Amino acid sequence: MRKLLAFGSLLAMILLFSNMTVDNVQPKKADGEKIYKQYCVTCHGLRGDMGVSGAANFVESKLKVEERIKVITNGRNNMASFKALLDKEKIKAVAAYTMKLTKE
Ligand code: HEC
Repeated sequence: MRKLLAFGSLLAMILLFSNMTVDNVQPKKADGEKIYKQYCVTCHGLRGDMGVSGAANFVESKLKVEERIKVITNGRNNMASFKALLDKEKIKAVAAYTMKLTKE
């Protein structure tokens, strides 16, 4: 019985420890470029200026990142809402990526 208890607590410690290391691993940051290539290129194009079905041109867009987040989240005219598909962090990441496509 004592042996079983010792084994049990060892097992518990191992489980606790492995759990802690899992918790310490940083969650992978959402990759804006990857999301863009997966969901946005079909209309906006790789460089953001393809303009399929009237898609906005990111090279010339005057929108600030907060405004882009709103359009991506809620949609606007022919631009679909992405809130069902992408969580907030992903929308932020892809909005930030579209900023990189804009000429200063
Ligand atoms: C089905 C085609 C389509 C897809 C896919 C699409 N968009 Fe759009 N997007 C549009 C259209 C069309 C507009 C212009 C909307 C309007 O006229 O109000 C637009 C506008 C925008 C705008 C506003 C820019 C501005 O300067 O007004 C942003 C930001 C944007 N899209 C981001 C994205 C992102 C990020 C994705 C991928 C997650 C995406 N779009 C996917 C069609 C699309």
